[in-house]
Amino acid sequence: MARKHGREGRGVVQKALITGITGQDGSYLAELLLEQKYAVWGVVRRSSTSPMERIEHILDRVTVVQGDITDLSSMIRLVEEIQPDEVYNLAAQSFVPTSWQQPILTGHTTALGVTNLLEAIRVVNRKIRFYQASSSEMFGKVQEVPQTERTPFYPRSPYGVAKLYGHWITVNYRESYGLHASSGILFNHESPRRGLEFVTRKVSNGVARIAMGLDKKLKLGNLDARRDWGYAGDYVEAMWRMLQADSPGDYVVATGKAHSVRDLVKVAFARVNLEWERYVEIDPRFVRPAEVDYLIGDSSLARDKLGWEPAVDFEGLVHRMVDHDLALLRSPEGSRNDHLPRIRPGSLEEPPSRIAPSRARGRILS
Ligand code: NAP
Ligand code: GDD
Repeated sequence: MARKHGREGRGVVQKALITGITGQDGSYLAELLLEQKYAVWGVVRRSSTSPMERIEHILDRVTVVQGDITDLSSMIRLVEEIQPDEVYNLAAQSFVPTSWQQPILTGHTTALGVTNLLEAIRVVNRKIRFYQASSSEMFGKVQEVPQTERTPFYPRSPYGVAKLYGHWITVNYRESYGLHASSGILFNHESPRRGLEFVTRKVSNGVARIAMGLDKKLKLGNLDARRDWGYAGDYVEAMWRMLQADSPGDYVVATGKAHSVRDLVKVAFARVNLEWERYVEIDPRFVRPAEVDYLIGDSSLARDKLGWEPAVDFEGLVHRMVDHDLALLRSPEGSRNDHLPRIRPGSLEEPPSRIAPSRARGRILS
């Protein structure tokens, strides 16, 4: 049965270590754990610029520690020094198109990085509870609709393949060493903190820019792809609940409703009273070498065993994101500068097979 509250209520402050704290989910999870009175440590990799944008507002309440998921020694050192009760592994190279451009780095980070953390826990203290950020991308070319914990996997990208390794190594350490290691098979979840390259934020940001007269067109790839989109703030609660359960397990976390990229575009443009057909252009550079056409999850197990359910629906999510990006552009910083936030053509999103060699040469993929 799931514990309702963190163990702080028993007079002991719980300690949590989060990898990927600077990412979308890391920031929401840190907020949730702070609310639950945890002491929170977040792993941040060294960078020449600051990646703290999403956690600036809580920096005085979390402890930032340096480390890299690909570096076993730093993982062991951190687990040894902090002696956390719970470890949440959210660190990954998480953008699917980049995984075709950097498949080996994606494997080192998204796959082997998981083993580094599990090894650290195995060596230091096997009582530490572990959460692995698995993904619906592992279902890829789906073998069943909707997808459950028992649906066979068929990944369609180097990212999906790497996540599948991370998933199975988590299961394996649970079975081999008796670790309380759980895997959350999370379907797409979004928020105003989503990276600009993912389609929901690309659309909300693009719509806001067009509404403000800053852009004329929004270029996208496959409008027919369907995803089961939820709100990141809801999904981090499922992560936490998995580690409060008496026994570990694998859980699908999803809303159970799918929408197409076209639906997303329609709802987002309607929010600012514009007709999407006038602004959206299809650009083959954003079409992937292998696509995941249709994801829709059945999260009955998480609902029954963890008491988890999502609160924000698809329209509410899209409205929230468009409203946020409009407010951002209207803010004093936004009106002073045209640099906020913008995806440059020819940036992160193009899979290599779609870039003509002459155009690709010499381009810095920022
Ligand atoms: P995100 O915004 O891309 O965040 C990824 C985080 O990983 C960032 O904090 C990043 O740090 C960190 N990171 C990357 N490489 C690292 C390394 N070598 N060592 C240490 N940290 C590293 O991703 P997200 O949307 O929050 O997703 C969180 C996790 O859930 C990821 O594992 C993702 O694959 C998985 N997931 C996400 C979804 C979704 O829809 N969002 C669905 C299923 C699963 P920097 O800030 O330094 O880059
Ligand atoms: N990014 C992007 N940009 N996607 C586009 C575009 C575009 O211009 N046009 C259409 N799409 C389609 C993609 O082809 C894909 O089918 C869908 O929109 C969603 O793309 P993303 O938002 O990039 O997310 P994702 O589904 O590939 O991956 C996300 O969800 C996974 C869970 O299923 C990431 O967060 C992964 O880390 C996560 O594991």
